[in-house]
Parts: sequence; C-alpha cells; structure tokens
Amino acid sequence: MAAELPDAPHLDPLAREALQLPDDRRLARIDRDLWIGYGRALDIGQRLERILQSGRRMRPDNLLVVGPSNNGKTAIARHFVARHTPPEDPGAERATIPVALIQAPNGPRIPQLLSAILAALGRPPLAWRSTAQLRAEAHRAMADVGLRLLLVDDLHNIRGSRCAPMLVELREIGSCTGVSLGGFATREIVDVLRQDEQLANRMAPCPLPRWRLDDPDYARLLATFARYLPLRRPSGLTHPDLAARLLAAADGLIGGVAAALRRAAAEAVRTGHECIDDTMLARPGVLEPPAWAEVAAAGNL
Ligand SMILES: Nc1ncnc2c1ncn2[C@@H]1O[C@H](COP(=O)(O)OP(=O)(O)OP(=O)(O)O)[C@@H](O)[C@H]1O
Ligand SMILES: [Mg+2]
Repeated sequence: MAAELPDAPHLDPLAREALQLPDDRRLARIDRDLWIGYGRALDIGQRLERILQSGRRMRPDNLLVVGPSNNGKTAIARHFVARHTPPEDPGAERATIPVALIQAPNGPRIPQLLSAILAALGRPPLAWRSTAQLRAEAHRAMADVGLRLLLVDDLHNIRGSRCAPMLVELREIGSCTGVSLGGFATREIVDVLRQDEQLANRMAPCPLPRWRLDDPDYARLLATFARYLPLRRPSGLTHPDLAARLLAAADGLIGGVAAALRRAAAEAVRTGHECIDDTMLARPGVLEPPAWAEVAAAGNL
C-alpha cells in the first residue's frame, strides 16, 4: 500500500512526497531545474509544433524567439526537443530525428555550424573536410533522419564581420532541404538580420519580453512555483508586495525569479521557517546574489 503523504494541500503531490525526504535531499530537490509551462512558453511551443507538422517544404516557415538573457529561451528549446525525441528503436534501420537543437557557432563560422548539425544528428566528427563537403554531408544527414525542424540556440552569436555568407547558409538550409529553423536569440540578432532581408522575411519574430507585474501569467507562474517548492507551510507568493519585490529584484527575468525563489526556499528549510515570506526575502543573499561589481572591487582576490 502506498505510504500516506504528508498533509500539505498547498503542494503538488510530487512536492508533498519530497517533504518526507531528509533536509539535505529536500534542499537538492529545491535546487533542481523545474519546467513550468507558462502562457508565452506554451504559445511558442504550439507555434513550433505547427511548423513541425506543416507539409510545406518548398519555403518552410521559420520562427525566431527574441528575448533578454536569462528569460527562458534555452529552457523552451530544450523542453520542446525533449518532448519530440522519439524513444530509441533498436529494430529501426535508421534513426528518425524530427527536431534537433544546436548551439550557434561563435562568430560567422560556417564549418562549425555544419559540424554542429552533424553532431546533433549523431554523426561522428569528421576528419578535415572542405566546407562544400561538410555542407553536402550535413544536408544528406538531415534528409536521412527526416529532420523537419532545426533549433539554433543563441543565434545572435553568429554576428561578426562578414556575416552575410552565414546568413545565406542558414537560408539555404530551408531552400535546399526543406528543414525549418527555430532560432533563439537576444535582440542583437535584429541588427544581424538587417544584413539579409530574404532571411529576415522568412523568420517570424516571436518576442519573449521581460515579465510585468500586471501580467496575469506572472501571478500564475508564482502560484505554480509555490506548488512545486517542497515547504511545509503555504507561501502566499502571489501577495502583491511580495510579487513586486521579487520581480524588481529579478529585473523582470524568469531566471532571476526562479533563482531568488530557490534561495528563499532553501533558507526556509535551513531556518525551519518552512515558507517564503518577507522574512525569507530579507535574508542576506536571497534577493541579491553576490554581484560581480563586488567581486571586481575586492582587493584580496
Ligand atoms: N519554463 C520555466 N520554468 C521554470 N523555470 C524556468 C523556465 N524557463 C526558465 N526558467 C529558469 O530561468 C533560468 C534561465 O533560463 P534560460 O537559461 O532558458 O534563459 P535564456 O533566455 O536562454 O538565457 P541566455 O540568453 O542567457 O542563454 C533557468 O535556469 C531556469 O531556472
Ligand atoms: Mg540560453
């Protein structure tokens, strides 16, 4: 018979189970990555899904998610890939990979882009090849595995002098293979795309802006965090003052909110306070992690 779960109706059953763990393991649980499907992330997921299912391969649709650093772009890309990775089938003649995720090369380096695609499709690194050979192999590999959507994280990293051939290369992935692109970038990508109107026209922009206090999604996000952080007492994270303090300290970024909540929850376990409230937010280091300015100013480093 399943063990009785602790009486904590404010928590999701998984978090309730975690209340039974010793404190060190509960702290490790708090420190784990957590995926919360908030409105804009779900919307981007649906748009990517539509692209994936689209039968138009002559001029495939592309999407470009643009948002500040630490605002959940990589999390969305990884979550989408994880949901679309088919289980391994030892009986299959060849692997099917509908979606792959790569990291954009650092600078407009076409060979690195093509090698990253090959690596993501499980092809071993090749001995030295010309760019033309790499291109032919990457395009062949994409066709072999039935790739439909190539996600490129940190696409702004391709910027640099002589970026134009890189943009043509990206455009040709669509026109030669019918594979769609899903880019994730900071706003620096806007200047990069100005150099290639044709690529810009093929990419639908999709902003992932900073969070706002009056966005009902923000209250839902906090309520969801509260259900998943394994604390014995309810936290009331959606209280307007607390929500506002968190958002200001996080500079409107989901990564900042998540990190502050994790630090506050850890304090709540260590101190035995067992909920997040003003007292926990006021604990040293909870709202303000050590700043680089302080490190830079330290004389003893
Ligand atoms: N959907 C989510 N649910 C819960 N936490 C999230 C979610 N998305 C992001 N986070 C939190 O925000 C942090 C930053 O997210 P992420 O790394 O995806 O940002 P990013 O926009 O890719 O930043 P960068 O541009 O610097 O790479 C994550 O480590 C995680 O703690
Ligand atoms: Mg990222």
